[in-house]
Amino acid sequence: MANERDSVLHSWCMQSTWQAPTVVGGSGAYLELEDGRRILDMSSLAECSNLGHQHPAVVEAIRRQAQQLCFVTSAWGAQPRAELAETLLEKAGFDGGRVFFTLAGADANENAVKFARQASGKPRGHIVTRDRSYHGASYACMALSGDARTRSQVDPEPFGVLHVPPPDTYRCPFGSEDAQACGEHAVAAVAETIDQHGAATIAAVLMEPNAGTNGIVAPDNYWPGLREATRARDVYLIADEVMSGFGRCGEWFAWQRHGAAGKPDLMTLAKGLTGAHLPLGAVVMSAQIAARLQHQMLYTGLTYCGHPLSCAAGLAALRAYQDEGLIARSRILGGWMRAELHSLQSRHAVIGDVRGGHGLFAVVELVADRVTREPLAPWPRTPPALNALVDAAMAEGVSFACRGNLLLLAPPLVIESHALADALTLLDRLLARFFPAVA
Ligand SMILES: Cc1ncc(COP(=O)(O)O)c(C=O)c1O
Repeated sequence: MANERDSVLHSWCMQSTWQAPTVVGGSGAYLELEDGRRILDMSSLAECSNLGHQHPAVVEAIRRQAQQLCFVTSAWGAQPRAELAETLLEKAGFDGGRVFFTLAGADANENAVKFARQASGKPRGHIVTRDRSYHGASYACMALSGDARTRSQVDPEPFGVLHVPPPDTYRCPFGSEDAQACGEHAVAAVAETIDQHGAATIAAVLMEPNAGTNGIVAPDNYWPGLREATRARDVYLIADEVMSGFGRCGEWFAWQRHGAAGKPDLMTLAKGLTGAHLPLGAVVMSAQIAARLQHQMLYTGLTYCGHPLSCAAGLAALRAYQDEGLIARSRILGGWMRAELHSLQSRHAVIGDVRGGHGLFAVVELVADRVTREPLAPWPRTPPALNALVDAAMAEGVSFACRGNLLLLAPPLVIESHALADALTLLDRLLARFFPAVA
């Protein structure tokens, strides 16, 4: 079989050290490798295969749509697109709203920014985002993100981006020991930024509502606080639900944990929207924003936006979440996983913090010293022992994802509970092996 090593440029890695496996198939929470091994996927690849791999109903929906109609431009109509939009609006409770389909999360965020600027009548309005956030790898999204890995590559200023400190309750940038107090400070920082610049110059605040790909999990008061602060100032709130949506945080969309008090003006989706079976993203907007855009030209859209095959996959994916009760399953298993991780923390001093667990998403942060919370390696470097742990787990048939000092646990929502338990038992054993000094 052809090896990619010499012909393909791979993302988010150093080419010279690339040694990822080649995947030839999958089923449920497992991937099948070219050498015949079966690997339990504890990260849903890029936190996107929420339905597991090769979900039969999604694969069948793609096959049927392909037989009927593969493509029609996004400026024309396509049936699965309309049905998917209606279903998304219903799940989000955005009555009278509209959906704009994109190819992925990055262009969903870029379009949400465009729509917020256009609908607010602030065409060059600033966008407030936070440090330790990730919104995508296009240039505009690198500017929107607060990501140390790419900061040197783009200047946020020409993109009209203002960064504020994150609600990092483990290392609170406001020096607070209490999670709720840290959340209050973080909301106040957003409010102050809007007030300092003047609300008339701010088009939107764009944030991840709960769990962030960069390892921050906001305290409970953060998102409702942001909603209140932005509404009071007549500034749109955009929820980046690209990773946190579709059950990952125990709800269809993470903001729904707060009910009406958390409802954003726009939200962006991708990843779990098709369970990663085909590329698709979306911007879901309120009725008020849709009405404001109704009589304006929209100079946006890429050729393959809202591709019928992807929309058919999305529709089948939404039915699968619903019919298989996967949102509630994620909430229940996520709570169990969080408890198990806390029990690991009590045995391994290298675990400084465990966060998340509203659904099947949790972050385990490793530290050199639990008292001082000194990081094991300076962010965003990954300590060699953590890389060794991940390699050893892979050799034993389990794929864990790490980022810097963080282990991100985000298995497919269909993972069997005994498989999840076995993976955590393996993690327990490997933590003792690779971090004996602090175990
Ligand atoms: C919160 C968040 N937003 C946006 C993106 C970008 O999505 P995509 O890679 O589909 O462009 C990601 C991807 O990891 C994400 O986690």
